[in-house]
Amino acid sequence: MTRISLTVDGAKVADDVEPRMLLVQYLRERLGKTGTVIGCDTSNCGACTVHLDGTSVKSCNVLAVQADGAEVTTIEGLARGGELHPVQESFRECHGLQCGFCTPGMIMQSVALLAENPRPSEEEIRLGLEGNLCRCTGYHNIVRAVQHAADSMDTPAAPAATTGGVS
Ligand code: FES
Ligand code: FES
Repeated sequence: MTRISLTVDGAKVADDVEPRMLLVQYLRERLGKTGTVIGCDTSNCGACTVHLDGTSVKSCNVLAVQADGAEVTTIEGLARGGELHPVQESFRECHGLQCGFCTPGMIMQSVALLAENPRPSEEEIRLGLEGNLCRCTGYHNIVRAVQHAADSMDTPAAPAATTGGVS
């Protein structure tokens, strides 16, 4: 077992974990952060995307011990003071989801994309989300949702994030 200490959605946590435990397992099984979902376990689908020290990562591709000392934000940490994050709000308004399984990862990646590029073109949005798969084939409305979020955000109010490490 290895001792880790990190901050998850603003709360400090410390735990003993198996060195082989994945970050997504730690978030779901130890912390009950089940909004981060597992779609493939092979780093293909992006459903497990979270922010690790401001960078979007596929949490099935990161060990929990690699998050030691880091700040992790999950989909459950995006809303502030009872208000949805603008990207969450835009997905709701633009019907950017069907079954919703890919939605947490899509939103986390979109927040990171907009933090890096607040005014992305449609092509840049599609490129930025290429590591996230939607099995309901709802990409059109997802792209619209990101465009709508960009329009609604005067400044990048989202938590600082970059899009490294997910493709
Ligand atoms: S569950 Fe992590 S990329 Fe699919
Ligand atoms: S909305 Fe169903 S997988 Fe994307």
